[in-house]
Amino acid sequence: MTTTTRIAVAGAGLIGKRHIDAILAVRAAELACVIDPSDAGRIVAAQTGAPHFTDLESALRRGGIDGVILATPNQRHAEGALMCIDAGCPVLVEKPLASSIDDARAIVAAGEAAGVAVLVGHHRRHNPIIAKARDLIAEGALGRIVSVQATTWFYKPEDYFETGWRRKAGAGPIFINLIHDIDLMQHFAGPATEVHAMQSSAVRGFEVEDTAVIILRFGSGALGTMNLSDTVPAPWSWELTAGENHAYPATTETAYWIGGTKASLAVPNLALWSHPDVQSWWSPITATNLPLETSDPLLRQIVHFCDVIRHGAAPVVSGRDGLAALAAIEAVKRSADTGTPVRLDAEL
Ligand SMILES: NC(=O)c1ccc[n+]([C@@H]2O[C@H](COP(=O)([O-])OP(=O)(O)OC[C@H]3O[C@@H](n4cnc5c(N)ncnc54)[C@H](O)[C@@H]3O)[C@@H](O)[C@H]2O)c1
Repeated sequence: MTTTTRIAVAGAGLIGKRHIDAILAVRAAELACVIDPSDAGRIVAAQTGAPHFTDLESALRRGGIDGVILATPNQRHAEGALMCIDAGCPVLVEKPLASSIDDARAIVAAGEAAGVAVLVGHHRRHNPIIAKARDLIAEGALGRIVSVQATTWFYKPEDYFETGWRRKAGAGPIFINLIHDIDLMQHFAGPATEVHAMQSSAVRGFEVEDTAVIILRFGSGALGTMNLSDTVPAPWSWELTAGENHAYPATTETAYWIGGTKASLAVPNLALWSHPDVQSWWSPITATNLPLETSDPLLRQIVHFCDVIRHGAAPVVSGRDGLAALAAIEAVKRSADTGTPVRLDAEL
């Protein structure tokens, strides 16, 4: 038995290459092979010295794989995940779990029936800042969660939209960016039960939205608001505040606010605000700035995947979590398209 965990990467594009770099950097992991039908994929494999396959089925048949990361286009997630589950091979599927709710449900059901671990690539949850925020909530440091607020404002330059599909339905910032934020809002406040959303494409005039606002109700009784735009030059987004991807210049601003009955917390800068003496708006309010532990969530995600494969650890982001994020995003789109609130209880 090998001592390292052999992980295959299917899809050696933008995010697949980052997973490959992360596997190569983690001592407990080994790159089993690269699976990608394109020439670019063959070149990536050659650069790493790992075997190259043009399709997942042949790679699984050859064996020597302990787990697979699926970093293929969204439409390929379901067939790839089901193939891995059939082969009894744990799989980490990039977000969104699938390109439809039905496909996502099928993946979750197949994984649970076969007892094969399914993880979803909402990697922000592996950031120690998110773990700390969640611990504070669980310990009751904020009291009962009343409301959460997320701002996702940034400016995508004109050349970003030269790639045609990025101007088409399904590729806007709701599906591409907000799915991570909504996963975190549910991580903090529990499952959302109702959403009401508005969207606009008034600035760029593309088929796809450039701006959206969302109101959420959570099963816990908490409420939430989210405000998204990829056409506002601003520092208030996870991308430009968390410093986890060097492609984005980091600022010291913040992106999320979590409000409880005892205190409120800004994330990612981890400022915990409360009244030290009398809990009243007339009494001084102060911030405790909690220490920030920074480390690359993609590396931590690989270490965790090895732990799931080797020791049966419970996934930090399960298939069900991925399904819940996708269901919330689909509800946001439906509400924005119809102008009516959408209930989520029946979706999962
Ligand atoms: N977690 C994140 O923050 C994050 C960031 C970017 C992308 N993603 C997700 O990762 C996935 C890939 O996105 P990307 O931007 O890297 O795309 P990409 O287009 O850059 O790369 C996709 C790669 O998959 C290959 N491919 C296509 N069909 C395949 C198949 N059947 N088997 C194996 N390889 C195949 C393509 O040749 C290409 O190299 C998407 O689901 C996307 O939503 C997640």
